[in-house]
Amino acid sequence: MKILVSGGAGYIGSHTVLQLVQAGHDVVIVDNFSNSQPAVIGRLEALAGRHLPVHAFDLLDEDKTEHLFATEGFDAVIHFAGLKAVGESVEKPLDYYENNLGSTFSLVRAMRRHGVDKLVFSSSATVYGTDQAGATEDRPTFATNPYGWTKVMQEQILRDIAVADPTLRFALLRYFNPVGAHASGTIGENPSGIPNNLMPFIAQVAVGRRERLNVFGDDYDTPDGTGVRDYIHVEDLAAGHVAALEALTSTEEPVSVWNLGSGRGTSVLELLHAFERAVGHELPYEVVARRPGDVAVSYADPAKANRELGWQTTRSVDDMCADTWRWQQQNPNGYDDA
Ligand code: NAD
Ligand code: UD1
Repeated sequence: MKILVSGGAGYIGSHTVLQLVQAGHDVVIVDNFSNSQPAVIGRLEALAGRHLPVHAFDLLDEDKTEHLFATEGFDAVIHFAGLKAVGESVEKPLDYYENNLGSTFSLVRAMRRHGVDKLVFSSSATVYGTDQAGATEDRPTFATNPYGWTKVMQEQILRDIAVADPTLRFALLRYFNPVGAHASGTIGENPSGIPNNLMPFIAQVAVGRRERLNVFGDDYDTPDGTGVRDYIHVEDLAAGHVAALEALTSTEEPVSVWNLGSGRGTSVLELLHAFERAVGHELPYEVVARRPGDVAVSYADPAKANRELGWQTTRSVDDMCADTWRWQQQNPNGYDDA
């Protein structure tokens, strides 16, 4: 298939682009580089062993989006582009609604004008709101912050569009906690500023960019009192996209929802200790207050994706830490060193 990957220069998009190429697909990237750097493209091309066409523009620009669809005949779209920082979404809700919903409108309008019928959409476990433990796809969706609402709303918008045009096939992929990096250590997660998320923060402590990890609360109702999450290696997540795309070519369902997670929970301290094993020494941490808005426990029930996609996670938490550490060591300042 010839696939348009929106946000293909970002963290999950870049790993997925590579696996799509390896699976024999043709890939075209569109990204405005608002949260990624052009340096990733050269590295992706080196790994893919081929040139990758990239269009650097904002998907909110409907004319440019239309022109792209008019000049390339796409078979499918994988839509990663979006803003994703929960705290920032509380500060700048309008930016989040405008960018996340607007990019989806622009893409889906162009798809419909040009007869492109398959879309894989990046959703999140955040759509389960405060009810994320052992979540199955039929659980009601709601959100606790503007970022989460953009995902709930985009899912609903796509469902409504699919009712109006039954020829369309949409996959809503609800990711749990993506971490890790490509085994080469040349592409990985590159947060700007102070990382919000646990794994990149630990990696920056390990490489000496941060003094210590702040553990946000150790009084949750969990085995060691710290928050439990379902970490998924970004390479397993990327493989889930390739599987979902292939499933869309044969399914009768207009909208398919799949959780992408391992089904296993790991606490903050368990992840820290796994990272210490990868690094070979202890890492400094301090227990501080809970982070407002955090849930105690989040993990997927991935049975539907396992069954319907023939997909499951294959990489352990130790693999995730080893691969993150390789990426962090080789690129202490992310793509800024490139
Ligand atoms: P990322 O920020 O690394 O990648 C997103 C890419 O989209 C960036 O390269 C950015 O420049 C681009 N982009 C944003 N708005 C755009 C626009 N209007 N036009 C063109 N390009 C635009 O994020 P990621 O971690 O790779 O996440 C990808 C998707 O998965 C996002 O939709 C995110 O909400 C979702 N998701 C991520 C996580 C996670 O923990 N990383 C978890 C659940 C869901
Ligand atoms: C965050 C987002 C969520 C998003 C998910 C994607 C928030 C409130 N939620 O969730 O919407 O879908 O990322 O990956 O931002 N922790 C620490 N110290 C740190 C950082 C985190 O102790 O410096 C703890 C957290 O309290 C949590 C766990 O580590 O228990 C994981 O945190 P994080 O990586 O931010 O992910 P989520 O909270 O699951």
